[in-house]
Amino acid sequence: MSLQPTTTVARIAGYVGETVTLAGWVYHKTGKGKLVFLLLRDGSGTIQCVIFKKQVSETTFALAQQLGQEAACRVTGSVRADERAPGGFELDVHELELVGPSVDYPISPKEHGVEFLMEHRHLWVRSARQHALLRVRAEVIAAAQEWLNEQGFIRFDSPILTATAAEGTSNLFATDYFDLGKAYLAQTGQLYVEAGMMAFGKVYCFGPTFRAEKSKTRRHLTEFWMIEPEVAFADHEDNLVLQEQFVSAIVQRVLERRAADLDVLERDTTVLKRCVPPFPRISYDDALELINAHQGEVEGATPVPWGEDFGAPHEQLIASQFDRPVFVERYPAAIKAFYMEPDPARPEVALCADLLAPEGYGEIIGGSQRIHDPDLLERRINEHGLDVADYRWYLDLRRYGTVPHSGFGMGIERAVAWITGTRHIRETIPFPRMLYRIYP
Ligand code: 4AD
Ligand code: MG
Repeated sequence: MSLQPTTTVARIAGYVGETVTLAGWVYHKTGKGKLVFLLLRDGSGTIQCVIFKKQVSETTFALAQQLGQEAACRVTGSVRADERAPGGFELDVHELELVGPSVDYPISPKEHGVEFLMEHRHLWVRSARQHALLRVRAEVIAAAQEWLNEQGFIRFDSPILTATAAEGTSNLFATDYFDLGKAYLAQTGQLYVEAGMMAFGKVYCFGPTFRAEKSKTRRHLTEFWMIEPEVAFADHEDNLVLQEQFVSAIVQRVLERRAADLDVLERDTTVLKRCVPPFPRISYDDALELINAHQGEVEGATPVPWGEDFGAPHEQLIASQFDRPVFVERYPAAIKAFYMEPDPARPEVALCADLLAPEGYGEIIGGSQRIHDPDLLERRINEHGLDVADYRWYLDLRRYGTVPHSGFGMGIERAVAWITGTRHIRETIPFPRMLYRIYP
């Protein structure tokens, strides 16, 4: 015997007038007299199931009355189209089978504080808003990979345990690696996808990345997922064009396929619909001017001296001047990673860009052209106080058939936070890891 249902709520439209078995959990229950209404949640959607005392056995009706919120059950009944029903269909129940009871479910429809909900994250993911958010996340991940695959990219997985730093040494998670000393959780897969790029031309890695960030902001996780394309024979300009096509393809696919979820999230989609190339570009220098000109419009966006990085308020101010994501390019090389190619016309700035999302969501992509000259790269490694011996293999990539190449990394959670209009990044990943949270 199979425990599988006949169909799912998402596919119920094809079964009007037929008898089906659904399997799911009690999302909500009400009743009066001879009627019990179960809102059944099966992961694909919710449907109202009507249990009428006269149409079921006495034990079935008694069972329906006793079901607790989130009790697991199998429900058999006939499908009826009903314009007034949310979703357009209802189930007239003939039989009901309890699979797993649930008593005193801690998350009720009333308001809970976010700390309470985070403590119950393992249950919270069943709630409508979280469910919609995580579906959009899954869509973003699928869209990103499928789009790259269609463009001829090869997925090239990078290691998580690494011997070296790539994005600064101050935020490394370290662990002891047998007799070989320290190992670090990868901050990025980039250095390794550069090896893949030399083998396959166009590659990407996708996986969790780690930063021991001591920042307690709404945009920082200590464990986040990043997708990182890398392309041979590609300069800074090629890189920006790829990024705007990539981001717009993802956003447009979410609009097409996850409209119902965006609706649950009450997302205003007008900004998303505008997210098509070309994206505006502004240099770091011009961004400084813009901040000067508009200071006071965003709290904390005070003038920045040349050579210093932007904070969240600055990014918010810059983005607020544009109607779609904006590239800020050519940052001072000194505040960026060691591997970035200097602008030949102005070596004090790097051929790099951050893509800032609208509406104050901040940087969703960081990318650059990479240094392809072995001597310059070695100099930069030294200047950053890193040990050249650790980067032998990375320098080899410049010794054997080096080419100008570029790439970028998009943080999945930052992208999902913006697309869904979720203020805090912690809700965009099933189990967020933050400075003060590792449970559940
Ligand atoms: O700008 P970042 O540090 O760039 C890199 O790691 C490059 N190696 C990428 C590349 O060129 N292949 O990080 C890239 C993106 C950011 O734009 C942001 O979306 C996300 O990763 N990110 C974080 N997301 C959540 N929490 C954090 N602590 C993050 N740090 C970076
Ligand atoms: Mg960055």
